[in-house]
Amino acid sequence: MRKSDVIQLIFHRPPPTDPKHEKGLAFAPTNIALVKYWGKRDAELNLPMTSSLSIALPDKGAMTTVMLQDQAQETVIVNDREIPSDSEFVKRITQFLDLFRPEKKWHLNINIKMNIPIAAGLASSACGFASLISALNDLFGWQLAAHQLSILARLGSGSAARSFWTGFVEWHAGVQSDGMDSVAEPLSVEWPGLCVGLLTMSDKEKPISSREGMQRTVNSSILYTAWPKKVTQDLAILKQALHVKNFPLLGGTAESNALTMHATMLASWPPVCYFLPETIAAMQQIWSLRRQGLALYFTEDAGPNLKLLFLEEDIGAVKEHFPSVEVVNVFEKE
Ligand code: PMV
Repeated sequence: MRKSDVIQLIFHRPPPTDPKHEKGLAFAPTNIALVKYWGKRDAELNLPMTSSLSIALPDKGAMTTVMLQDQAQETVIVNDREIPSDSEFVKRITQFLDLFRPEKKWHLNINIKMNIPIAAGLASSACGFASLISALNDLFGWQLAAHQLSILARLGSGSAARSFWTGFVEWHAGVQSDGMDSVAEPLSVEWPGLCVGLLTMSDKEKPISSREGMQRTVNSSILYTAWPKKVTQDLAILKQALHVKNFPLLGGTAESNALTMHATMLASWPPVCYFLPETIAAMQQIWSLRRQGLALYFTEDAGPNLKLLFLEEDIGAVKEHFPSVEVVNVFEKE
């Protein structure tokens, strides 16, 4: 099964690309997985081995504007800086756009504004691809539903499938080879007072892409066989925690899931390690604070930065111990 087959299944014809507006515009929030996606059962379609569950950061993410342009290639601008056309990022975007223009008849000016560090494990590719496909949907008037956009965004970056909703979102692994059942959906649960703290140790580009890291883990880590079992368990516990609003259960499950993911990576060869010394130091500080009674947990993605999990009542204490933390009160109403 190829990506072009998925396009056919969604549109049933070549995607219409007559612009309906002068510009297409869309925002997509970034999402932080509490139960992680790590490993693909199909690398072409970005079909995951397991389901995953995330929380969206409502105001953090990517705002993308697209306009047709009279040039033979794309112009990609991220945070007012033009990205070189031979860079990996622009190549990935170009390949993604090629799915919607088999004859390469049109090209875009793509302007992305992100308010999160790029490519440092803060899911910038997730909100990037989600906002790009939504902006195309706007420009060309496709009127696709969110679950269809989720399937299309996944073809650009797996975790982008989860970036179409606020709140908690589950991405179902699915079983079909065409991936039409590998779709994310929002969970109808809110948790007022739940906070995520962004603790940025480095905003440098990660040395090993998540694509490469996953592949290496699946192919060479003996611990990977335990991963699907761990995810199944953690998903059930996390949903229970959401249901009864048990914060230590949510925080502990998310932290243990992230550490297990990193353990499977470390057992790969060559090893996949996203920790910096500062990452470990922060973990130890969190464990020490927890022993002193603070309900503070963390999760970590494919980068050295930690995302702290805590409740609104502890914002002051968390800021006191981590002065540089950026706090997002996830369900706070404007
Ligand atoms: O979608 P990708 O290829 O950027 O992979 C994301 C992987 C993790 O962020 C580590 C986990 C996740 O579920 O988001």
